[in-house]
Amino acid sequence: MAEGIGTVLVLGATADIGRAIARAFAAGGHALQLAARDRARLEHEARDIRVRASAPVALYGCDVLADAGGAALVDELDPLPDVAVCVIGLLDGRAERDRDIAARVMRTNYLGPSLLLGALAERFEKRGSGVLVGVSSVAGDRGRASNCVYGSAKAGFSAYLSGLRNRLAASGVHVVTVKPGYVRTRMTDGMDLPAPLAATPDEVADAVVRAVRRRRDVIYVRPIWRWIMLVVRVIPERAFKRLKL
Ligand SMILES: NC(=O)c1ccc[n+]([C@@H]2O[C@H](COP(=O)([O-])OP(=O)(O)OC[C@H]3O[C@@H](n4cnc5c(N)ncnc54)[C@H](OP(=O)(O)O)[C@@H]3O)[C@@H](O)[C@H]2O)c1
Repeated sequence: MAEGIGTVLVLGATADIGRAIARAFAAGGHALQLAARDRARLEHEARDIRVRASAPVALYGCDVLADAGGAALVDELDPLPDVAVCVIGLLDGRAERDRDIAARVMRTNYLGPSLLLGALAERFEKRGSGVLVGVSSVAGDRGRASNCVYGSAKAGFSAYLSGLRNRLAASGVHVVTVKPGYVRTRMTDGMDLPAPLAATPDEVADAVVRAVRRRRDVIYVRPIWRWIMLVVRVIPERAFKRLKL
């Protein structure tokens, strides 16, 4: 077990990426707190982890569309975890044309996770230790026509994580931003993902565990994405608006 990392909270533990992250930390001997909105699937996941690893697993309900992003959950946590990883997110192509769905995508990717991690940040800051991990997206690096709503919400979340990292740097609390690139999960089911750019949930999980141990700031799971997004970011607006990205 890595020094200073005892209990790990996974927010969105029924996500394909969340399940892989929980298993990776359990394999490292860490106690787990799994939070999600679907209790039956959470219990199924916990049973599976208990069979594979001897780590203790506690379960919590979590819906980021509830008041204050479901931050009431933070009062229930016992103990306060050493690491909290937020994997919660929603991609829905209809958001570009439907305002209710757009609001749900914005709240699920930005408002809820930010309020929830913000509530944890306060507790971690008081204690003077802890690692917060937010799974954001390369989609937040520059707004694009094809995922304007999702991308803008992830941009907000990335900016929030950056601000938290800056605010908490002197307090002993570390913040990691994760930009996975394409990942083969139920979120991308049916999409034609280019093989060299598409990671597996286990790859994301290994990268997250390494980033927590090494106190990394911002990671791109497949390094090639850092360069792709650098190019995408520097294209002048005049040329960018003529591209269909
Ligand atoms: N797959 C990719 O290519 C990719 C790329 C970049 C970033 N990401 C990000 O990675 C994270 C995990 O995604 P994934 O690919 O593993 O897809 P996923 O399996 O669909 O995970 C999304 C998770 O968010 C949870 N969620 C949605 N609304 C919620 C709410 N109101 N309250 C609490 N939980 C809620 C879902 O809960 P339920 O299980 O109850 O539905 C699900 O577990 C997301 O933040 C996603 O944006 C994914």
